[in-house]
Amino acid sequence: MDAPWPFDIRPLTPRLGAEVLGVTLAHGISDDLFAAIYRAFLRHQVLLFEPQDVPPATQVAFARRFGEVQVHVMNQYHAGGFPELYRLSNLDEHGRPTGKHPDKGTLAWHTDGSWSQVTGQATIIYGEVVPKVGGETHFCDMYGAYERLSPEWKARLANLRAVHNLDFSRTRRHGEDPLTEAQRRERPPVDHPIVRTHPETGRQCVYLGDHAEYIVGMPYDEGRALIEEVNAMIIHPDLTYEHCWTAGELLLWDNRCVLHKATAFDEAREGRVVRRCTVLGEVPH
Ligand SMILES: [Fe+2]
Repeated sequence: MDAPWPFDIRPLTPRLGAEVLGVTLAHGISDDLFAAIYRAFLRHQVLLFEPQDVPPATQVAFARRFGEVQVHVMNQYHAGGFPELYRLSNLDEHGRPTGKHPDKGTLAWHTDGSWSQVTGQATIIYGEVVPKVGGETHFCDMYGAYERLSPEWKARLANLRAVHNLDFSRTRRHGEDPLTEAQRRERPPVDHPIVRTHPETGRQCVYLGDHAEYIVGMPYDEGRALIEEVNAMIIHPDLTYEHCWTAGELLLWDNRCVLHKATAFDEAREGRVVRRCTVLGEVPH
């Protein structure tokens, strides 16, 4: 029998996601409480904390409980004083919408840090300003996506490795602001298995998404077509949780076993400011 939860917890869908109720992050998190949060994170893959004030320092301190926090190569997004925080905003210095989407790469299904040798574990995102319509964050369960593959597809993907490349995905989705030469040099492409074993739960899941460019040992175009086909095949509405934000909420998820994306919003009329940090996990196997 599992230990009881030291907080109220409410599933967000039958399969994926849970809301943790009654936890105030700025009050500090005891070791026992953190152990329960981590257990809930492994079980539910996506956790939501109800609206509360989470100052940047609290967010970074909470992220550090999970592990080493990534300092993102795209340093134009670093939030004041905290290189671990990556701020996405469409507001100018007067708080007016600029009409520019800060990162169109977030609009396609992906997993954070798959372009790195050591990939993302948890991503923790705090909603400072959220639009009335759109700007949602959607998640899809990749354990379930793997289970749904036919035996033929499981066999076909079993030993394939995909090359993940931030430069490719960034330029493709957000070409007006590509990586600089220095950023490109710092983040050469890396390859990871398409079917990975979660290092903590031991369960298999599909590990692909929009940063995947081509397949090791396969002609480029054939690999591209296969990636597009699999990326479409692994998204199932009933394995998906669609989060519509309320300001002050904090969401965290396990990049090793979920894909996520943001949805579009009216960048010229509405504000969206979120700050995010990603905890480093491990080299996938
Ligand atoms: Fe992301």
